[in-house]
Amino acid sequence: MTESTRPTVYIETYGCQMNVSDSELMLGKMVASGYDEADAPDNADVILLNTCAIRDHAEQRVIGRLGEMKSKMKKDAVVGVTGCMAQRLGPQILKRAKHVSLVIGPDGYRSLPLLVENARRGVRATATDFDLEEHYEDFKPRRFDKVKAWVPVQRGCDYRCTYCIVPTTRGPERSRQLDEVVRETREIVAEGMSEVVLLGQTVNSYTDGIHDFADLLRAVGAVDGVKRLRFTSPHPNDFSDCVIAAMAETEAVCEHVHLPMQSGSSRTLRRMLRRYSREGYFECVDRLRTAMPGLAMTTDIIVGFPGETEEDFLETLSAVREVGFDDAYTFKFSAREGTPATRMPESDTISDEVASERLARLIDTVRSGTRERNLGALGERREVLIEKQARRGGLLQARTRDFKTVIIPGEIDMIGTYATVELTGTTGSTFTGAVVRERVSLPMAV
Ligand code: SAH
Ligand code: SF4
Ligand code: F3S
Repeated sequence: MTESTRPTVYIETYGCQMNVSDSELMLGKMVASGYDEADAPDNADVILLNTCAIRDHAEQRVIGRLGEMKSKMKKDAVVGVTGCMAQRLGPQILKRAKHVSLVIGPDGYRSLPLLVENARRGVRATATDFDLEEHYEDFKPRRFDKVKAWVPVQRGCDYRCTYCIVPTTRGPERSRQLDEVVRETREIVAEGMSEVVLLGQTVNSYTDGIHDFADLLRAVGAVDGVKRLRFTSPHPNDFSDCVIAAMAETEAVCEHVHLPMQSGSSRTLRRMLRRYSREGYFECVDRLRTAMPGLAMTTDIIVGFPGETEEDFLETLSAVREVGFDDAYTFKFSAREGTPATRMPESDTISDEVASERLARLIDTVRSGTRERNLGALGERREVLIEKQARRGGLLQARTRDFKTVIIPGEIDMIGTYATVELTGTTGSTFTGAVVRERVSLPMAV
C-alpha cells in the first residue's frame, strides 16, 4: 500500500495535559492500525474530538466545534467524541449529534480502531465502561511535543471535591507500575528528549502497591539523560516528608510546584471538601520552600463557589499575597451536574455578576504579585530549555527550571537545547532574555 492510500485521522484536544497525553496514545494506536495523521479536519477520514467536561464553557466549545465540523468535514468522515465529556454524556451525544458515530470514554481507547472500522460501515457505538487495569502500556504514543514528554503515571481520582466532575469522568484512582514508567522514560530519552512531566490528578498520591511517589521521583530522576523532571498536579495532603525529601534530593526535579489552592478561606475549603485548611495549605508551602529554597509556586483558584462571602473572597486575596504565587490559573465556579456543589441551597448561589467582579479583582492581585516578583528577577541568569518558536518576530520561546517563559533570539535548530540566559526585560508575566556565552571555568590551581 502506498502512503497516499492510507486513511487519515485528525485529533483535536481540549482540557488538561492528561487529555493531551491520551490523544498521543490514541494517535499512536491509530497510526499503528494503518492511519496517517491529518493536520486539519477538512480532509480527514476520521475526526476525533478529545473533550473536557471541567466547566460548562469547555463543553460549549466542543458543541460549537461539532456544529462547525458538520459543514466542513468530508461527506463520509467518521466523527468521534472521546474524553471526559464523552464519558459524562455517553449515548446522549449520539442522540443529539447525528453526524457523530463514536463516543468513547477515557478507559475505552483500546477499542478505538475496531469501533472506527465499524463506524465506517455505519455502526454507531458508545464505550464508556471504566477499566481499572487500563494504562495502555502496549500503546506507543505519537508525541505532539518534541521537547518535553507527558507521562501519565496515575489515572482517575479518589478525592471528592464537591465542585469537581473528574471523579465521574475518569473513575477511581489507579497507578501504573514504577517499572513501566521507568521503561517509558528510557524510551523518551532515546528519542532525544530530556524533560519529563509526570501526570496524575493527585499525582503525589501515586502508589503501585510497593512504591510511592518519592520512589517514583527518584527512579525517573535516575534515568540517564533526564535533565528536567516535573509533575502535575499534586494535592497538598499527599506531600509526605518522604516525597518532599525526594524532590529536594533528586537533581532533575525542577524548582517549581503547581499546587492548586482553590480558595484561601478555610470555610470555603471545607465546603469544597478539599481536606485542608488555609493554614494547612500555608504549612505545606512552607515545608516545600524550606526543603527547596527558591521554589516557584503556581496554583489554581476558583471564585464564586456556592456560599462564598465577600469575607471568604478577601481571604483568598490575602492568601495569594501571603504565598506570593508566581502565577495562578483562575476560574469562575461552574456548576457541574451531579456534583455535591449543585445540591447546596439555592440561596448560596453566587450571581455571575459578583463572580465576574471577584474574578477581575483576583486576576489583578495575581498579576501585580507576578509582576513584582518578575521585576525583582531582572538581571539574573538562568538555565533555559528552548521549547519552540515564539509566536512573533522570529524569536524562540524557552523555559527556566522554575517555569518562567523567556523569549530569546536564536535559530530554529536551537529548539530542544539548553542555554544560559540573562533575564533582560519582562512584560510582567513573561521575560525577554539574552543568551550568555558561558565561559568554561577551569579549576584553579592550588
Ligand atoms: N486534580 C487537580 C485539578 C484538576 S481540574 C487538583 O485537584 O488540583 C483543574 C482545575 O479546574 C482545578 O484545580 C480547579 O481550580 C478547576 N475546576 C475544577 N472544577 C471546577 C468547576 N466546577 N468550576 C470551576 N473550576 C473548576
Ligand atoms: Fe477534582 Fe479534587 Fe480530584 Fe482534583 S482532587 S480531580 S479537584 S476531585
Ligand atoms: Fe477536563 Fe477531564 Fe482533564 S474534565 S480537565 S479533560 S480530566
